[in-house]
Amino acid sequence: MAQPLTVVIFGASGDLTWRKLIPALFNLAQKGKLPPDARIVGVARTAYADADYRAELEPKVKGILPGSQFDAAKWAEFAKRIHYVSTDATQPGGCKALAEWFKANETNPDSRRLYYFSMAPKYYSAISSAMAEEGLNKGDAAHRRLIIEKPFGTNLATAKALNDNMHKHWDESQLYRIDHYLGKDTVQNILVFRFANTLFEPLWNAQYIDHVQITVAEKVTVDGRLDYYDGSGVMCDMIQNHLLQVLTMVAMEDPNKYNAENLRNEKMKVLSTIKVHSEADAPKVMALGQYKGYLDALEAEKQKLFAKGEDVSKKAGHNSRTPTYAAIKLELDSHRWHGVPFFLRSGKGLKNRYSEVLIQFKCRSRLMFPLPPGQMLQCNRLRMVIQPNESISISFQSKVPDVDGVSLKPHDLTFDYKKAFPDQAIPEAYERLLLDAIMGEASLFMRADEIERAWEIMDPIIAAAEHAPRQPEPYTVGSDGPACANQLLDCWQPIG
Ligand code: BG6
Repeated sequence: MAQPLTVVIFGASGDLTWRKLIPALFNLAQKGKLPPDARIVGVARTAYADADYRAELEPKVKGILPGSQFDAAKWAEFAKRIHYVSTDATQPGGCKALAEWFKANETNPDSRRLYYFSMAPKYYSAISSAMAEEGLNKGDAAHRRLIIEKPFGTNLATAKALNDNMHKHWDESQLYRIDHYLGKDTVQNILVFRFANTLFEPLWNAQYIDHVQITVAEKVTVDGRLDYYDGSGVMCDMIQNHLLQVLTMVAMEDPNKYNAENLRNEKMKVLSTIKVHSEADAPKVMALGQYKGYLDALEAEKQKLFAKGEDVSKKAGHNSRTPTYAAIKLELDSHRWHGVPFFLRSGKGLKNRYSEVLIQFKCRSRLMFPLPPGQMLQCNRLRMVIQPNESISISFQSKVPDVDGVSLKPHDLTFDYKKAFPDQAIPEAYERLLLDAIMGEASLFMRADEIERAWEIMDPIIAAAEHAPRQPEPYTVGSDGPACANQLLDCWQPIG
């Protein structure tokens, strides 16, 4: 029988908890994937009794889950598992109350605990120390796991320092650094598509592929998260983690067996082949944009904080250079990928929400069919749409039916997830990742070395963006993004 389980969420009153974590745990419970006696303990400073915390969560979770997934009676049953400990866990002695909760409520010595850091990263080290003071990290290592939210550090030096701090109290095998893009079914399917089929892998290399485009476009702006976002920008918020992780799935070799160590070794090999640009060279491989209205919103936010009496001397307003859009070109120095550029782009306030991987194959070296004057041949292209219209399509040339001549027209062969699996909704990434961490399956979590290497690649690019002589190019909200991105790659697929 599975040992009892307690999931402890530090940052219990934060957005992530009610938007993602509690809904994911609720869904897992409905699917019968949580041990029947599993409990959840929220930890935050606000003073709540268990009942108050449950009452606070209910309407929020109800607002998040689609109507068909929220059943009041099932919620009432589930909510009985939710508890709350009020404390400032960032202070020395701050985890005493949690340790006491365990003393009073955890009777089985074999019980499992999954801790979740879901608060501002600046507190990670302090909470880890406060937990260690109470021995909350002690016990069978397989029964004490810790999920850590991104961002993990802000550059190579801070990521290394954070890894060192975490390793003071935790073994690497206990640490589950989350990147929710790896929890997306469509991202995992990249490996299945490549390595469970015969057709594609022989073509998956520099001999046949011209370039790769990885796009994560978002319609949303950053209103409401300006304070966090202005310190990060799109490079740290999206490219250093989500897009680079997707790149590793596209570019890696197949491990001889699917397990966490092998998979992460192969991903790490990809990261280690990515050329690290110098800060001086980086401007040649990047294009930056900032949506119009960002600076006004930031200035208004700054004034609001100032009016509240906060020190805003270090906060940017109208002078912020934070990019809300970036496109970068990366090169991999490996036999498979030599000479194949990988273009990564991501932005907020764009026309559509849409994430995809596009593999552009090379054209045939010669074509025996005459093309009408002015018509260019569209060479084969594979599109793996990660969201929202999850699909894979391959474009190829076909003959237009006619009584004379041969004229060509590109068409798509498409696999559409919703049509192929009408009865199986694509699960939320957090459901998959929480369950994996509960089961001790670390394949879809990032190892310390991956994180550090990702920063090593991005640090000079981020520094070049920070020290750029000009503001990022302004673009209109609802557009395709800044025109400068086209200079990096003139055949970008339009957004969405
Ligand atoms: C988060 C970023 O990690 O990912 C957000 O901090 C971003 O800025 C989000 O909006 C995008 O995730 P998804 O799953 O909606 O594409």
